Amino acid sequence: MEKPRTILVTGGAGFIGSHVARRLGELGHTVIIVDNLNDYYDPTLKQARLDTLLADTPHIFYQVDIADEATMRNVFESHKIDQICHQAAQAGVRYAAQAPLVYEHSNMRGTLVLLELAREFVVENIVMASSSSVYGDAAHYPVKETDITDQPISLYAATKRATELMAHSYHHLYNLPITCLRYFTVYGPWGRPDMAFFSFTKAALEGKPIDVFGQGKLSRDFTYIDDIVEGIVRALEVRPPWAILNLGRGKAEPLMSMIECVERAAGKTLTKNFVDMQPGDVRETWADISQARKLLGWEPKVNLDEGIPKFVEWYRECYGI
Ligand SMILES: NC(=O)c1ccc[n+]([C@@H]2O[C@H](COP(=O)([O-])OP(=O)(O)OC[C@H]3O[C@@H](n4cnc5c(N)ncnc54)[C@H](O)[C@@H]3O)[C@@H](O)[C@H]2O)c1
Repeated sequence: MEKPRTILVTGGAGFIGSHVARRLGELGHTVIIVDNLNDYYDPTLKQARLDTLLADTPHIFYQVDIADEATMRNVFESHKIDQICHQAAQAGVRYAAQAPLVYEHSNMRGTLVLLELAREFVVENIVMASSSSVYGDAAHYPVKETDITDQPISLYAATKRATELMAHSYHHLYNLPITCLRYFTVYGPWGRPDMAFFSFTKAALEGKPIDVFGQGKLSRDFTYIDDIVEGIVRALEVRPPWAILNLGRGKAEPLMSMIECVERAAGKTLTKNFVDMQPGDVRETWADISQARKLLGWEPKVNLDEGIPKFVEWYRECYGI
């Protein structure tokens, strides 16, 4: 059993961060959350995660912008932070074309502020969120961590790759143990409203049509939230000196299969408008997860046909449908 630590969870009001914070609290750790509760999507959902999902998890919450160095320094001065679980970021491939400077601010400056404070206050290790988007339109699948990642096709991907590179320099210069986890399309209860599984479920339950991008020919490696949380917790415990690891289900599923799962779980047939791909989107994602298996002893367990009904059930309950 791990000795209880004080763990800083950035983006702890977000989808993944709130689930991780809950799990870390259940494991007996002291959880410090920072999140700026920005309005990229409905902040009441972020507040509800803190109030409901984290209701039984003792935690200390600071509404802080991670790029605000002075205020973040106060957090480090107020608590002896042992480990950092860095989930805060401006997510979303499409919004990056509208608001590029937000990505620079939160993903690049925000991560750099954290790395600096981690060095200065000598934390044990950092586990940080990266993304499958760093692979761009890959030449072959499944993608491995050693594959090419210097041809991003969205600014979001470019900033996520930049955070990995900054992290490596801090690992090298200051001997900071860091693990960067490349998540593949994460879904589940308390999920993000800008993601397809969420908007398709909403449309199904409201009887509205959906736009299916890429003419329905895209495929994704869909990863259930509990599997991601397990991977993050293991990375915090194993503390590799330096690692970049894919966390995915390890299967490419056609987007249409996800839509069918939503239809079955919602008991509705969706009206679909088939439209072209959006700039920045990739055709396929599919993770080779052998490294995470080997290093973390991690094995994802939940398939789409088990995971999507759990999401739809949460959605009905949360929105009173
Ligand atoms: N959900 C996915 O499928 C997925 C896939 C790949 C990578 N990721 C990465 O995982 C991490 C978590 O993503 P998520 O899906 O939970 O997104 P999310 O938007 O729900 O969570 C991110 C949280 O960070 C906060 N935040 C953003 N900028 C901030 C700043 N400057 N200061 C403080 N807080 C800030 C937001 O308010 C939000 O609560 C992100 O780093 C994201 O890039 C997610």
